[in-house]
Amino acid sequence: MNAITPASAERLVRVPLGERAYDILIGPGLIARAGREIAARLKGRKAAVITDENVAPHYLAALVASLEAAGIQASSLVLPAGEKTKSFEHLMTVCDAVLTARVERNDAVIALGGGVIGDLSGFAAGIVRRGVRFVQIPTSLLAQVDSSVGGKTGINTHHGKNLVGVFHQPDLVLADTDALNTLSEREFRAGYAEVAKYGLIDKPDFFAWLEANWRQVFAGGAARIEAIAASCQAKSDVVVADERENGPRALLNLGHTFGHALEAATAYDSRRLVHGEGVAIGMVLAHEFSARLNLASPDDAKRVEAHLKAVGLPTRMGDIPGDLPPAETLMDAIAQDKKVKSGKLTFILTHGIGQSFVADDVPSSEVLSFLKEKHP
Ligand SMILES: NC(=O)c1ccc[n+]([C@@H]2O[C@H](COP(=O)([O-])OP(=O)(O)OC[C@H]3O[C@@H](n4cnc5c(N)ncnc54)[C@H](O)[C@@H]3O)[C@@H](O)[C@H]2O)c1
Ligand SMILES: [Zn+2]
Repeated sequence: MNAITPASAERLVRVPLGERAYDILIGPGLIARAGREIAARLKGRKAAVITDENVAPHYLAALVASLEAAGIQASSLVLPAGEKTKSFEHLMTVCDAVLTARVERNDAVIALGGGVIGDLSGFAAGIVRRGVRFVQIPTSLLAQVDSSVGGKTGINTHHGKNLVGVFHQPDLVLADTDALNTLSEREFRAGYAEVAKYGLIDKPDFFAWLEANWRQVFAGGAARIEAIAASCQAKSDVVVADERENGPRALLNLGHTFGHALEAATAYDSRRLVHGEGVAIGMVLAHEFSARLNLASPDDAKRVEAHLKAVGLPTRMGDIPGDLPPAETLMDAIAQDKKVKSGKLTFILTHGIGQSFVADDVPSSEVLSFLKEKHP
């Protein structure tokens, strides 16, 4: 199991946020080494590990053993898997477990899991005792390249997704790339949509590299570590430029306006659509919509679609199993997701691959007629 890792296989991305700065370590074997890495950085010697029922059987025992071996007293809480766990009810359970474990401000809450566990545990870490230390051990590709970095935490309410939460940066992120071996192929692909997104936002060379190397990224090894490190670096750059999303951080929402509308239209039913799949379709739509507004060449939209299709992601609304509501209903979801100011919407549009920008004057009538045209 615990093969000695050649140091060259591992990557470190530092998020330089002043007194909230932290390291992201990316590579194999990090769960087995987590105790040492955490003990070297945090003063406290207690930790509450939060995980879910899919991840626990694979990695919880190894993590707890690693913590105990480093002198960190560990308690653990295993929650149900899935988006519904990001709720007030489970937030209470987590806060209670953290307090029962007598975790104090220099001790840590450790999130071992995907974005659901990360968002929920990070929120609890941000509010218990007005903030305790927080370590992310992301186990899904999406969490390794996106949700574990940047400090956004939160839960869902019946008003919508992620509406209650706090900014609470982690003190350390350990992205153990071996953990991805037990992730389903579908969840891996969905996370890959967010990897491609970084190229499409402002890194055309990275997108071209992915077009050439995606098979190796899917296979594992050095190319996978490289893609995750490049993604974490890209996310870190955006977060450092705009920690609380007053401006450029919005670029991370490329493809997400259409994507969220499709997630809502499928009632967040993961059998039909998971987040990254919605983002894949959304990114193709964002490029097509930009071409329709004469901002970008239609060839770029074709190139984006060809790549996402090659990796096996859905790229068209018609790829979603089952019927979709009419374009008007999708438009309502977009209008709810966004602040509509006198018929104008804020959208992430593009001048081409790697040339995205924030447009805040998109007429909603244009969006609606585009959706009607694209509706299956
Ligand atoms: N905070 C942020 O900045 C941010 C950014 C993007 C997304 N998010 C949030 O992240 C969530 C989605 O994250 P996700 O896609 O990781 O979802 P998830 O946490 O539900 O994980 C997906 C599935 O994979 C399973 N899983 C995770 N790791 C595994 C492993 N190594 N082996 C086997 N199974 C494993 C989980 O149990 C779950 O069933 C959403 O709630 C979204 O809102 C947050
Ligand atoms: Zn996303």
